[in-house]
Amino acid sequence: MPAWTKSLVGLLALAGGAVSCAHHGDTEVVPEHEREELLKKWDQEWSFSGIASFAHLKPVKCLIEPSENYDIAVIGAPFDTAVSYRPGARFGPRAIRAASARQMSGTSFNTRAGINPYKSWAKITDCGDIPITPFDNGLAERQMYEAFLELGSRKVVNKAPKGGDSIGTGHPKLVTLGGDHSVALPALRALHQIYQKPITVLHFDAHLDTWNPVRYSAYWQSEQTQFNHGSFFHKASREGLICNSTSAHAGLRTRLTGVDAGDYTNPGPEQGFIRIHADDIDDLGPMGVVETIIQRTGLDPEQPVYLSVDIDVLDPSTAPGTGTPEPGGWTTREFIRILRGLEKLNLVGADIVEVSPAYDNKGETTALAAAQVAFEIITSMVKSGVKEDLGGWYGNLYEDASVGETESADVSRDEL
Ligand SMILES: *[C@@H]1O[C@H](CO)[C@@H](O)[C@H](O)[C@H]1NC(C)=O
Repeated sequence: MPAWTKSLVGLLALAGGAVSCAHHGDTEVVPEHEREELLKKWDQEWSFSGIASFAHLKPVKCLIEPSENYDIAVIGAPFDTAVSYRPGARFGPRAIRAASARQMSGTSFNTRAGINPYKSWAKITDCGDIPITPFDNGLAERQMYEAFLELGSRKVVNKAPKGGDSIGTGHPKLVTLGGDHSVALPALRALHQIYQKPITVLHFDAHLDTWNPVRYSAYWQSEQTQFNHGSFFHKASREGLICNSTSAHAGLRTRLTGVDAGDYTNPGPEQGFIRIHADDIDDLGPMGVVETIIQRTGLDPEQPVYLSVDIDVLDPSTAPGTGTPEPGGWTTREFIRILRGLEKLNLVGADIVEVSPAYDNKGETTALAAAQVAFEIITSMVKSGVKEDLGGWYGNLYEDASVGETESADVSRDEL
């Protein structure tokens, strides 16, 4: 009798059971060989099929599964009630997950890095979304903090082969899909709690986000007006969460308040960031931007780094679907190259925020860029834990293979 006929018989038996209100037998155990057959037959997804998790990773509501462990957690933070202009980033996690559909584990070898992050040492889980209230930002802050703290305090599954010397080794790494940028504040609070020291923040954004909240209104102030997507780093700095001597802004091109560059010095260099402007890439090139950043952040294995990516660091032509767009930014390619140059940073957490799909286009340009940014960041997190030297840009794996020399490229591939 073929397997499906047996299942049908089983179903009929169940239906019979339902009539007599019996419950036993409704969780029939599938024999091992049938399970194998089923997996061979149906355990496949196409890029366009399946329920949308990030990169088709196994979706788990980790917050209600306390025994679920992982090495890297992707977390949605659908929150956007702290924005100053266009809302809609609460739909960011959904859009980024949908745009990650072509990141199948079997087809995600990152040629720029020389590694497939989904087929390496790390267990990566899509932990679902934090159910954040849209009605009370004070409560939302608390929900996010508690969620990040819980998810970041779980046990790792596979200790990174390399990295016994890094402060992050015993803790899972968190990758947040925002959400407006204020989600970075509860994330930093949680990381500060986990690592018990100020965190180095590498911040890619058109804007400073260190603004004193009085910039929005000096008269109408409350505790809650301090929590907004332009002032959360100000608050984080005041709370001592940010390491003042190693942090950097990159991609800046925002207009400032008033008639001079006072926003840069007021409320003070104590904000602790150096500033790399969007235009600097013309003089420095992407790798010069990388060098400037690394000079500032250092590569100290004892110093945790949080990477915060506001998608508006990209030019609106490559990322229109965002809350506060600023023309004159970097292209997706330039930014990816910068990110690849930073793969040795000691990342313990990251976010990709401010994707607002209502302003995106039919090609989902912004969400695609965000999904790619997440891919590059996850690649770096995994690659930093790999023991063998996979090389840098384009992995140097194919160093014999320059363009056009396909023969030697084949040879290097075979040697893998
Ligand atoms: C950074 O500077 C600010 C302002 O002076 C201060 O409040 C904060 O505690 C400093 N952070 C650290 C980690 O020292």
